[in-house]
Amino acid sequence: MPIMTQIIGTGSYLPERVVTNDDLAKTVDTTDEWIRDRTGIRQRHIAAEGELTSDLAFNAANRALEAAGMVPQEIDMIIVGTTTPDHTFPATSARVQAMLNTGNGFAFDLQAVCSGFIYGLSVADNFIRMGQINTALVIGAETMSRLIDWQDRNTCVLFGDGAGAVVLRGEEVAEGEKRGVLSTHLHSNGHLYDLLHASGGPSWTQTAGHIRMQGKDVFRHAVTNLASVVDEALEANGLGYDDIDWLVPHQANQRILDGTARKLGLPKSRVVVTVAEHANTSAASVPLALDTAVRDGRIQRGQLLMMEAMGAGLTWGAGLVRF
Ligand code: ACO
Repeated sequence: MPIMTQIIGTGSYLPERVVTNDDLAKTVDTTDEWIRDRTGIRQRHIAAEGELTSDLAFNAANRALEAAGMVPQEIDMIIVGTTTPDHTFPATSARVQAMLNTGNGFAFDLQAVCSGFIYGLSVADNFIRMGQINTALVIGAETMSRLIDWQDRNTCVLFGDGAGAVVLRGEEVAEGEKRGVLSTHLHSNGHLYDLLHASGGPSWTQTAGHIRMQGKDVFRHAVTNLASVVDEALEANGLGYDDIDWLVPHQANQRILDGTARKLGLPKSRVVVTVAEHANTSAASVPLALDTAVRDGRIQRGQLLMMEAMGAGLTWGAGLVRF
Protein backbone atom coordinates (compact mmCIF):
# COMPACT_ATOMS: atom_id res chain seq x y z
CA MET A 1 0.00 0.00 0.00
CA PRO A 2 1.30 3.50 -0.79
CA ILE A 3 2.58 5.74 1.99
CA MET A 4 1.32 9.31 2.26
CA THR A 5 2.51 12.03 4.61
CA GLN A 6 -0.02 13.12 7.22
CA ILE A 7 0.01 16.33 9.27
CA ILE A 8 -0.81 14.86 12.66
CA GLY A 9 -0.17 17.90 14.86
CA THR A 10 0.32 21.65 14.55
CA GLY A 11 1.73 24.18 17.00
CA SER A 12 2.90 27.77 17.13
CA TYR A 13 4.47 30.30 19.42
CA LEU A 14 4.60 34.09 19.53
CA PRO A 15 6.83 36.16 21.80
CA GLU A 16 4.96 38.01 24.51
CA ARG A 17 5.85 41.57 23.56
CA VAL A 18 3.52 43.28 21.08
CA VAL A 19 4.64 46.34 19.13
CA THR A 20 1.83 48.34 17.53
CA ASN A 21 2.03 50.65 14.53
CA ASP A 22 1.65 53.60 16.88
CA ASP A 23 4.67 52.36 18.83
CA LEU A 24 6.72 52.39 15.61
CA ALA A 25 5.45 55.86 14.69
CA LYS A 26 7.27 57.15 17.77
CA THR A 27 10.66 56.18 16.30
CA VAL A 28 10.29 56.39 12.48
CA ASP A 29 8.38 58.72 10.16
CA THR A 30 5.27 56.60 9.65
CA THR A 31 1.64 56.34 10.76
CA ASP A 32 -0.73 53.61 11.79
CA GLU A 33 -2.97 54.63 8.88
CA TRP A 34 -0.16 54.31 6.27
CA ILE A 35 0.88 50.87 7.54
CA ARG A 36 -2.69 49.53 7.71
CA ASP A 37 -3.62 50.93 4.27
CA ARG A 38 -0.52 49.60 2.48
CA THR A 39 -0.03 46.30 4.34
CA GLY A 40 -3.01 45.43 6.57
CA ILE A 41 -0.57 45.07 9.51
CA ARG A 42 -1.73 46.40 12.91
CA GLN A 43 0.89 44.91 15.22
CA ARG A 44 3.73 42.42 15.43
CA HIS A 45 5.29 40.28 18.19
CA ILE A 46 8.94 40.94 18.98
CA ALA A 47 11.26 38.53 20.81
CA ALA A 48 12.57 39.58 24.21
CA GLU A 49 16.24 40.29 24.73
CA GLY A 50 17.99 36.94 24.92
CA GLU A 51 15.04 35.09 23.39
CA LEU A 52 16.43 33.30 20.33
CA THR A 53 15.03 31.66 17.22
CA SER A 54 15.69 28.27 18.85
CA ASP A 55 13.49 29.25 21.83
CA LEU A 56 10.61 30.15 19.53
CA ALA A 57 11.12 26.96 17.50
CA PHE A 58 11.26 24.80 20.63
CA ASN A 59 7.98 26.20 22.00
CA ALA A 60 6.15 25.75 18.69
CA ALA A 61 7.58 22.22 18.34
CA ASN A 62 6.42 21.24 21.83
CA ARG A 63 2.88 22.39 21.07
CA ALA A 64 2.83 20.49 17.78
CA LEU A 65 4.12 17.34 19.48
CA GLU A 66 1.49 17.69 22.21
CA ALA A 67 -1.24 18.06 19.58
CA ALA A 68 0.11 14.97 17.81
CA GLY A 69 0.23 13.00 21.07
CA MET A 70 3.90 12.22 20.48
CA VAL A 71 7.16 12.59 22.38
CA PRO A 72 10.31 14.07 20.78
CA GLN A 73 12.09 10.70 20.85
CA GLU A 74 9.62 9.45 18.23
CA ILE A 75 10.81 12.06 15.68
CA ASP A 76 13.22 10.86 12.96
CA MET A 77 14.07 14.21 11.37
CA ILE A 78 13.89 17.88 12.40
CA ILE A 79 13.96 20.66 9.82
CA VAL A 80 14.05 24.28 10.91
CA GLY A 81 13.26 26.73 8.13
CA THR A 82 14.90 29.99 9.17
CA THR A 83 16.82 32.94 7.82
CA THR A 84 17.62 34.18 11.34
CA PRO A 85 19.61 31.31 12.92
CA ASP A 86 20.95 31.66 16.46
CA HIS A 87 24.52 31.36 15.19
CA THR A 88 26.15 31.31 11.76
CA PHE A 89 26.74 27.66 12.62
CA PRO A 90 25.83 25.07 13.86
CA ALA A 91 22.27 24.83 12.61
CA THR A 92 19.54 26.12 14.90
CA SER A 93 17.84 22.74 14.43
CA ALA A 94 20.77 21.10 16.29
CA ARG A 95 20.03 23.28 19.28
CA VAL A 96 16.31 22.51 19.02
CA GLN A 97 17.14 18.80 18.93
CA ALA A 98 19.08 19.18 22.18
CA MET A 99 16.34 21.31 23.78
CA LEU A 100 13.82 18.59 22.91
CA ASN A 101 16.24 16.17 24.56
CA THR A 102 16.33 13.79 21.64
CA GLY A 103 19.53 12.37 20.25
CA ASN A 104 17.97 10.14 17.66
CA GLY A 105 17.50 10.95 14.00
CA PHE A 106 18.98 14.02 12.36
CA ALA A 107 18.37 17.74 12.19
CA PHE A 108 19.23 20.49 9.73
CA ASP A 109 18.26 24.04 8.84
CA LEU A 110 16.75 25.02 5.55
CA GLN A 111 17.33 28.48 4.12
CA ALA A 112 14.63 29.53 1.66
CA VAL A 113 13.64 32.68 3.59
CA CYS A 114 9.84 33.15 3.56
CA SER A 115 9.40 29.90 1.59
CA GLY A 116 11.35 27.92 4.23
CA PHE A 117 8.34 26.10 5.62
CA ILE A 118 6.96 25.06 2.22
CA TYR A 119 10.44 23.89 1.17
CA GLY A 120 10.75 21.98 4.48
CA LEU A 121 7.35 20.36 4.00
CA SER A 122 8.38 19.26 0.53
CA VAL A 123 11.73 17.82 1.67
CA ALA A 124 10.13 15.96 4.60
CA ASP A 125 7.30 14.62 2.42
CA ASN A 126 9.85 13.18 0.00
CA PHE A 127 11.92 11.58 2.79
CA ILE A 128 8.75 10.00 4.21
CA ARG A 129 7.31 8.75 0.92
CA MET A 130 10.70 7.25 -0.01
CA GLY A 131 10.57 5.30 3.27
CA GLN A 132 13.85 6.74 4.60
CA ILE A 133 12.09 8.13 7.68
CA ASN A 134 8.61 7.79 9.14
CA THR A 135 8.20 10.95 11.23
CA ALA A 136 9.36 14.54 10.90
CA LEU A 137 9.09 17.83 12.70
CA VAL A 138 9.04 20.75 10.27
CA ILE A 139 9.41 24.12 11.96
CA GLY A 140 9.46 27.66 10.62
CA ALA A 141 11.02 30.02 13.16
CA GLU A 142 12.27 33.56 12.87
CA THR A 143 13.51 36.51 14.86
CA MET A 144 13.23 38.96 11.96
CA SER A 145 13.48 41.83 14.45
CA ARG A 146 17.25 41.10 14.64
CA LEU A 147 17.69 41.70 10.90
CA ILE A 148 15.60 44.84 10.73
CA ASP A 149 17.08 48.27 10.28
CA TRP A 150 14.80 50.06 12.73
CA GLN A 151 15.54 53.39 11.02
CA ASP A 152 14.29 52.17 7.61
CA ARG A 153 10.55 52.81 7.46
CA ASN A 154 10.31 50.93 4.14
CA THR A 155 11.01 47.63 5.89
CA CYS A 156 10.83 47.95 9.68
CA VAL A 157 7.03 48.10 9.70
CA LEU A 158 6.62 44.85 7.76
CA PHE A 159 8.11 42.08 9.89
CA GLY A 160 7.55 40.24 13.16
CA ASP A 161 8.94 37.30 15.17
CA GLY A 162 7.31 33.91 15.73
CA ALA A 163 7.37 30.19 15.05
CA GLY A 164 5.07 27.48 13.74
CA ALA A 165 5.53 23.73 13.49
CA VAL A 166 3.94 20.57 12.15
CA VAL A 167 4.48 16.93 13.05
CA LEU A 168 4.41 14.71 9.97
CA ARG A 169 4.01 10.92 9.83
CA GLY A 170 3.92 8.50 6.96
CA GLU A 171 0.81 6.32 6.92
CA GLU A 172 -0.26 3.59 4.55
CA VAL A 173 -3.33 4.53 2.56
CA ALA A 174 -5.54 2.45 0.32
CA GLU A 175 -4.65 2.43 -3.40
CA GLY A 176 -6.18 5.57 -4.93
CA GLU A 177 -6.92 7.17 -1.54
CA LYS A 178 -5.78 10.80 -1.44
CA ARG A 179 -5.19 11.76 2.19
CA GLY A 180 -2.34 13.91 3.55
CA VAL A 181 0.20 15.82 1.46
CA LEU A 182 -1.04 15.44 -2.13
CA SER A 183 1.88 17.25 -3.75
CA THR A 184 4.42 20.04 -3.27
CA HIS A 185 5.81 22.37 -5.91
CA LEU A 186 9.00 24.40 -5.51
CA HIS A 187 10.58 27.15 -7.61
CA SER A 188 13.36 29.68 -7.41
CA ASN A 189 14.80 32.39 -9.61
CA GLY A 190 18.26 33.43 -8.45
CA HIS A 191 18.37 36.21 -11.06
CA LEU A 192 16.13 38.14 -8.66
CA TYR A 193 18.58 37.74 -5.74
CA ASP A 194 18.97 41.49 -5.19
CA LEU A 195 15.27 42.38 -4.97
CA LEU A 196 15.17 41.34 -1.33
CA HIS A 197 18.31 40.57 0.63
CA ALA A 198 20.26 41.12 3.84
CA SER A 199 23.07 43.62 3.48
CA GLY A 200 25.56 41.30 5.18
CA GLY A 201 26.68 37.69 5.60
CA PRO A 202 29.63 35.66 6.96
CA SER A 203 31.39 35.45 3.58
CA TRP A 204 30.63 39.01 2.53
CA THR A 205 30.74 41.51 5.40
CA GLN A 206 31.20 39.18 8.37
CA THR A 207 28.08 40.76 9.89
CA ALA A 208 24.45 39.67 9.61
CA GLY A 209 23.38 42.90 7.85
CA HIS A 210 19.91 44.38 7.50
CA ILE A 211 16.91 43.70 5.30
CA ARG A 212 16.92 45.63 2.02
CA MET A 213 14.00 45.43 -0.38
CA GLN A 214 12.65 46.75 -3.64
CA GLY A 215 9.08 46.57 -2.41
CA LYS A 216 7.15 47.26 -5.61
CA ASP A 217 9.05 44.62 -7.63
CA VAL A 218 8.68 42.04 -4.86
CA PHE A 219 4.96 42.77 -4.73
CA ARG A 220 4.55 42.27 -8.50
CA HIS A 221 6.45 38.96 -8.53
CA ALA A 222 4.57 37.73 -5.45
CA VAL A 223 1.08 37.93 -6.92
CA THR A 224 2.14 36.43 -10.28
CA ASN A 225 4.28 33.61 -8.87
CA LEU A 226 1.87 32.64 -6.09
CA ALA A 227 -1.14 32.44 -8.39
CA SER A 228 0.84 30.40 -10.90
CA VAL A 229 2.17 27.86 -8.35
CA VAL A 230 -1.33 27.41 -6.94
CA ASP A 231 -2.56 26.68 -10.48
CA GLU A 232 0.29 24.21 -10.92
CA ALA A 233 -0.59 22.34 -7.71
CA LEU A 234 -4.29 22.14 -8.60
CA GLU A 235 -3.58 20.98 -12.14
CA ALA A 236 -1.17 18.27 -10.90
CA ASN A 237 -4.01 16.84 -8.82
CA GLY A 238 -6.87 17.33 -11.29
CA LEU A 239 -8.55 19.78 -8.91
CA GLY A 240 -9.99 23.29 -9.32
CA TYR A 241 -10.36 26.47 -7.26
CA ASP A 242 -13.75 25.37 -5.95
CA ASP A 243 -12.15 22.31 -4.35
CA ILE A 244 -9.96 24.44 -2.02
CA ASP A 245 -11.50 24.72 1.44
CA TRP A 246 -8.76 26.99 2.79
CA LEU A 247 -5.97 28.98 1.23
CA VAL A 248 -3.26 29.17 3.91
CA PRO A 249 -0.92 31.74 2.38
CA HIS A 250 2.34 33.32 3.40
CA GLN A 251 1.36 36.40 5.39
CA ALA A 252 3.42 39.19 3.83
CA ASN A 253 0.91 41.86 3.10
CA GLN A 254 -2.90 42.06 2.97
CA ARG A 255 -2.72 43.48 -0.56
CA ILE A 256 -0.69 40.49 -1.77
CA LEU A 257 -3.25 38.17 -0.12
CA ASP A 258 -6.16 40.04 -1.73
CA GLY A 259 -4.40 40.18 -5.12
CA THR A 260 -3.67 36.45 -5.10
CA ALA A 261 -7.18 35.50 -3.93
CA ARG A 262 -8.69 37.77 -6.61
CA LYS A 263 -6.52 36.22 -9.31
CA LEU A 264 -7.68 32.77 -8.19
CA GLY A 265 -11.31 33.83 -7.83
CA LEU A 266 -11.30 32.68 -4.18
CA PRO A 267 -13.63 34.48 -1.75
CA LYS A 268 -11.91 36.12 1.25
CA SER A 269 -13.94 33.85 3.52
CA ARG A 270 -11.76 30.91 2.41
CA VAL A 271 -8.41 32.63 3.03
CA VAL A 272 -6.69 32.34 6.44
CA VAL A 273 -5.39 35.80 7.33
CA THR A 274 -3.17 36.54 10.33
CA VAL A 275 -1.00 39.31 8.88
CA ALA A 276 -2.80 42.03 10.88
CA GLU A 277 -1.70 40.52 14.21
CA HIS A 278 1.59 38.80 13.29
CA ALA A 279 3.01 40.89 10.37
CA ASN A 280 5.44 39.01 8.12
CA THR A 281 7.16 36.29 10.15
CA SER A 282 8.97 34.85 7.10
CA ALA A 283 9.35 31.04 7.35
CA ALA A 284 7.07 30.98 10.40
CA SER A 285 4.10 32.61 8.73
CA VAL A 286 2.44 29.64 6.98
CA PRO A 287 2.63 27.20 9.95
CA LEU A 288 1.56 30.02 12.28
CA ALA A 289 -1.50 30.72 10.14
CA LEU A 290 -2.19 27.00 9.82
CA ASP A 291 -2.03 26.41 13.57
CA THR A 292 -4.16 29.49 14.29
CA ALA A 293 -6.96 28.24 12.02
CA VAL A 294 -6.69 24.64 13.27
CA ARG A 295 -6.96 25.73 16.90
CA ASP A 296 -9.84 28.16 16.38
CA GLY A 297 -11.77 25.41 14.59
CA ARG A 298 -11.90 26.88 11.10
CA ILE A 299 -9.76 24.14 9.57
CA GLN A 300 -11.33 20.71 9.96
CA ARG A 301 -10.01 17.23 9.27
CA GLY A 302 -10.70 16.12 5.71
CA GLN A 303 -10.58 19.63 4.25
CA LEU A 304 -8.39 20.59 1.30
CA LEU A 305 -5.67 23.11 2.22
CA MET A 306 -3.58 25.05 -0.26
CA MET A 307 -0.45 26.43 1.39
CA GLU A 308 1.80 28.80 -0.55
CA ALA A 309 4.70 31.17 0.03
CA MET A 310 7.18 33.40 -1.74
CA GLY A 311 10.37 34.85 -0.35
CA ALA A 312 13.81 36.20 -1.10
CA GLY A 313 15.88 34.32 -3.64
CA LEU A 314 13.37 34.61 -5.10
CA THR A 315 11.93 31.31 -3.90
CA TRP A 316 8.33 30.22 -4.00
CA GLY A 317 6.24 27.12 -3.67
CA ALA A 318 2.96 25.47 -2.73
CA GLY A 319 1.81 22.42 -0.83
CA LEU A 320 -1.63 20.88 -1.35
CA VAL A 321 -2.86 18.85 1.63
CA ARG A 322 -6.00 16.85 2.35
CA PHE A 323 -5.92 17.56 6.09
N1 ACO B 1 5.38 54.95 6.41
C1 ACO B 1 5.13 56.02 5.65
N2 ACO B 1 5.60 56.14 4.40
C2 ACO B 1 6.32 55.12 3.91
C3 ACO B 1 6.61 53.97 4.65
C4 ACO B 1 6.11 53.92 5.95
N3 ACO B 1 6.32 52.86 6.75
N4 ACO B 1 7.34 53.13 3.90
C5 ACO B 1 7.51 53.73 2.72
N5 ACO B 1 6.91 54.95 2.73
C6 ACO B 1 6.86 55.94 1.67
C7 ACO B 1 7.98 55.79 0.69
O1 ACO B 1 9.15 56.42 1.19
C8 ACO B 1 7.44 56.51 -0.51
O2 ACO B 1 7.60 57.87 -0.31
P1 ACO B 1 8.02 58.83 -1.54
O3 ACO B 1 6.91 58.69 -2.53
O4 ACO B 1 8.10 60.16 -0.88
O5 ACO B 1 9.31 58.30 -2.01
C9 ACO B 1 5.93 56.22 -0.41
O6 ACO B 1 5.68 55.76 0.91
C10 ACO B 1 5.43 55.19 -1.38
O7 ACO B 1 6.30 54.11 -1.33
P2 ACO B 1 6.04 52.89 -2.26
O8 ACO B 1 7.22 51.98 -2.17
O9 ACO B 1 5.58 53.36 -3.59
O10 ACO B 1 4.80 52.21 -1.51
P3 ACO B 1 4.02 50.93 -1.98
O11 ACO B 1 2.63 51.28 -2.27
O12 ACO B 1 4.76 50.13 -2.99
O13 ACO B 1 4.00 50.09 -0.63
C11 ACO B 1 5.13 48.25 0.36
C12 ACO B 1 5.21 49.72 -0.05
C13 ACO B 1 4.08 48.10 1.43
C14 ACO B 1 6.48 47.81 0.92
C15 ACO B 1 4.77 47.38 -0.88
O14 ACO B 1 5.62 47.68 -1.94
C16 ACO B 1 4.80 45.93 -0.59
O15 ACO B 1 3.99 45.42 0.12
N6 ACO B 1 5.71 45.19 -1.20
C17 ACO B 1 5.84 43.77 -0.94
C18 ACO B 1 7.00 43.63 -0.09
C19 ACO B 1 6.84 42.57 0.96
O16 ACO B 1 5.81 42.22 1.44
N7 ACO B 1 8.00 42.06 1.31
C20 ACO B 1 8.07 41.11 2.34
C21 ACO B 1 9.04 40.06 2.05
S1 ACO B 1 8.69 39.26 0.54
C22 ACO B 1 7.47 38.31 0.86
O17 ACO B 1 7.33 37.91 1.98
C23 ACO B 1 6.57 37.95 -0.23
